[in-house]
Amino acid sequence: MSAKPKSAFVCSVCQHQEPKWLGRCPECGSWNSFRDAGPAAASRSPARGEEPRPVPLAAIETREGLRLDSGIEEVNRVLGGGIMKDSAVLIAGEPGTGKSTLMLQLASRVQTKGRTLYVSGEESPAQIRLRADRLGIAGEQIEVFPGTELSAVLRVCDRLKPVVLIVDSIQTLFSEDIGTVPGTVNQVRLCGQELIGWTKTHGAALFLVGHVTKEGYIAGPKVVEHMVDTVLYFETGSSGIRLLRAAKNRFGTVDEIGIFQMGEQGLAQVPNPAALFLTRREGEQPPGVVVAPVYEGTRVLLVEIQSLVVPAKGGISRVFSDRIDAGRVSRMAAVLEKHLKARLADQDLYVNVGGGLRIAEVGIELPLAIALYSARLNQPVPALTAVVGEVSLAGEVRPVPHLDRRARAVAEMSFARLVHPAGVELQGAPASPAFAPEGLGRAGFAGLCPAATLAEAVRACFTAPA
Ligand code: TYD
Ligand code: MG
Repeated sequence: MSAKPKSAFVCSVCQHQEPKWLGRCPECGSWNSFRDAGPAAASRSPARGEEPRPVPLAAIETREGLRLDSGIEEVNRVLGGGIMKDSAVLIAGEPGTGKSTLMLQLASRVQTKGRTLYVSGEESPAQIRLRADRLGIAGEQIEVFPGTELSAVLRVCDRLKPVVLIVDSIQTLFSEDIGTVPGTVNQVRLCGQELIGWTKTHGAALFLVGHVTKEGYIAGPKVVEHMVDTVLYFETGSSGIRLLRAAKNRFGTVDEIGIFQMGEQGLAQVPNPAALFLTRREGEQPPGVVVAPVYEGTRVLLVEIQSLVVPAKGGISRVFSDRIDAGRVSRMAAVLEKHLKARLADQDLYVNVGGGLRIAEVGIELPLAIALYSARLNQPVPALTAVVGEVSLAGEVRPVPHLDRRARAVAEMSFARLVHPAGVELQGAPASPAFAPEGLGRAGFAGLCPAATLAEAVRACFTAPA
């Protein structure tokens, strides 16, 4: 029993332990992160006290009130039902997106009796006050601390014991222990880790703001992504639209997006975003434009796929698409070539999504294919036609989930018809009892156009509704 106490080495990034020093942490992949933690950490049997024991999963109590209402419905939605206590959230985005605005609004609305501490290394207290005035925030429960030195921030935390801690931004902090230049990989990592450590031992919730710039991305918030529980990206769409999207979420899905509109009084929630990304046009649609009901989290949004097809210079086809995966665009082009004899191999393909939404769901494939086809033929899709479906390489139209909800959204927006995958119980609707939403019974909705193949979908799309 009296074995010589051995040392243990602890990764200073993720706290992973190893009996011997390693150059690279097998857990988080950090280099040179192992520190000698001394014999205490090494001994597998505790120096004093009880033998360590596992706990039966069923016996673990879940604490009531583990989540705080952020006071902002869109934020709650993206976080999976509110702010988890003992958790760390990274809010990353390009400068000017509105991260500080969102954080200040959240600080003023979060439903807690505790304190909220807003640590700002970006702006002076006077600037924050001005912003708060503009946003109509009195801010009695918000404390502002303009420091950037980590130990000072932690001392303020110890004194104030905030329930919500906002640090804006992680790149402005530095720890004197490892130098005075903020924003380096080591500084960001150490400060992130210390703040997360404080948060988890004090039952608080931490929001770390991180700037993403195209060049400095690696030295930026990426470094803390694996340490935090939730990573949110705040993105700018067109005409003041801001999108909050989870890239990682230990406490919920990553499917939900939060939608805001930046206005005179800061960020406003958009109560009915279904048609937010749609451009209403009188009469005919331009060629290359197709409306699609996409499913984002638990909501259906109607978006406009826009495509432009022009002869490629030098005969080499290129794809320009940053809202829809370029590989998907190429795939749809290949399927159109093969199954519909549409010549696209010598064309440049430009694809965009109205409103700046980025779309990853498969239901976008059929509308994308139709948009490319429409652009190539220079023939518009008739007005008030929406399209949804997945397209296989064999040129079949495959079913997509939640077709009923999508169809309802299309009908509610007074569209005339929806070209959709055949073989789903929607067929025969609106008479079908499984699918009888009020909207579809309304006059003007000529109905549902099932298509089993891409060729059928093209035929359905380019025939004007009766
Ligand atoms: P900000 O929150 O400072 O962005 P970040 O912290 O992500 O860099 O917001 C920046 C932009 O938002 C800025 O261009 C001004 C605009 N804005 C409004 O349009 N309305 C407002 O009420 C506020 C506070 C900001
Ligand atoms: Mg800011």
